Amino acid sequence: MKIAMIGTGYVGLVSGVCFSDFGHDVICVDKDPRKIETLRAGGVPIYEPGLDLLMAKNVESGRLSFTTNLKEAVDGADAVFIAVGTPTRRGDGHADLTFVMKAAEEIAQALTGYAVVVTKSTVPVGTNRQVKETIARANPKADFDVASNPEFLREGAAIDDFMRPDRIVVGVQNDRAAEVMSEIYRPLYLRDFPILTTDLESAEMIKYAANAFLATKITFINEIAALCERTGADVKLVSQGMGLDGRIGNKFLHAGPGYGGSCFPKDTKALARIGQEYGLPMQITETVIKVNEETRRRMVDKVADMLDGKIAGKTIAVLGVTFKPNTDDMREAPSLTVIPALIGGGAKVRAVDPQGHREAVDLLPGVNWLDDAYEAAKDADALVILTEWNEFRALDLKRLAEGMRFAALADLRNIYSSRDAKRAGFKRYVSVGRTDFVEATPPEVREPVVADPAE
Ligand SMILES: NC(=O)c1ccc[n+]([C@@H]2O[C@H](COP(=O)([O-])OP(=O)(O)OC[C@H]3O[C@@H](n4cnc5c(N)ncnc54)[C@H](O)[C@@H]3O)[C@@H](O)[C@H]2O)c1
Repeated sequence: MKIAMIGTGYVGLVSGVCFSDFGHDVICVDKDPRKIETLRAGGVPIYEPGLDLLMAKNVESGRLSFTTNLKEAVDGADAVFIAVGTPTRRGDGHADLTFVMKAAEEIAQALTGYAVVVTKSTVPVGTNRQVKETIARANPKADFDVASNPEFLREGAAIDDFMRPDRIVVGVQNDRAAEVMSEIYRPLYLRDFPILTTDLESAEMIKYAANAFLATKITFINEIAALCERTGADVKLVSQGMGLDGRIGNKFLHAGPGYGGSCFPKDTKALARIGQEYGLPMQITETVIKVNEETRRRMVDKVADMLDGKIAGKTIAVLGVTFKPNTDDMREAPSLTVIPALIGGGAKVRAVDPQGHREAVDLLPGVNWLDDAYEAAKDADALVILTEWNEFRALDLKRLAEGMRFAALADLRNIYSSRDAKRAGFKRYVSVGRTDFVEATPPEVREPVVADPAE
């Protein structure tokens, strides 16, 4: 199969690389010349574990190439995938379909023979029909079908998710398009990964319903965590006890600073908007959005309360700024709520992130960036864990505590425990949905004798 992949972001690039690894000929297109230049030079514009090696292997084999020229990629393609962004439209929460429709118009002009135009971007119900109308209007002679093929990969585990998916969802209108799609996914089909073939609308809805459900699960446990704090229960044990129930499952049941990332926030908002448009408010999803925002704000209060509400002039070290580990994606990361609030309250913030620094530096002005957790903690008044990167999971807590001016730890991912922190010499430890431990009073702010090493 010859495939054109429009958009080389997190989804388009991973999909393009993996399709070429299946043995298809793939040309990836992006309108951003810098991305294409980087890719052509063998670089990967995003951080995704394993992507560089798989990409190099398939470029080497001649099956994978990159261009800014959409016409060249679409010419003779059996399938043209649209994998462009669908961010939240400013003002109303709806998915912004500008990039999708623009891509559809460009594809219409470039089609040379029969092709299936497949929307991989997450789009509201009815969009594939709109794509079809747009193409037919722009090029009435075009010979094509549309298909909806929502993507479920997770950043940080994207290759494995693509190569070993729980399911593939394909929405089509006829057998011809279904055949092209099953040919594309044949390697997975042969390995018994389930392929669910549906109509266009159901495929579109499955993606929003799945993401809203996962966001609900996370938000549910975050709300339970807040109640655990009031009642003295331990949310980690509660999640364990719930997750062992096969009907519930243990995934997406970890209390933390609220969901973020490129998908859940925008997809829950878009689903809520779709409900409003159809006169059927998605009440559960609307509440999830509200509770998630409250959860984030609660994290700011947690850090402030840990320092008795006095953060002005304090030095706070933050470990992890990306929305989750193993990605450099900063979209809707909880750090974007927590860090500006701390800086706004007069704190000096230092941050460490294994991959997020490059993306985060413009989004988080006023932060001092360091490379190492121990350096960040040195002489700090508090340490905050915001993202559970592996390298933050086995820190030498004693060494951290000894280096701090006031040893206070806000573990917003529940990696450690009160006992670990106490033993290591921390004076205060707060986490999410568990009992805090508070000892000693934070010292008043004083002028630093030596300048902050990061300044
Ligand atoms: N990121 C994820 O984990 C994930 C997972 C599942 C689904 N999705 C969905 O996939 C879609 C893409 O997400 P993403 O995170 O990869 O987006 P992204 O913003 O990282 O990448 C989109 C790319 O498309 C390019 N582009 C836009 N218009 C173009 C055009 N006309 N021609 C060529 N290139 C064009 C942009 O330059 C950009 O590089 C979204 O709808 C998203 O909801 C994302």
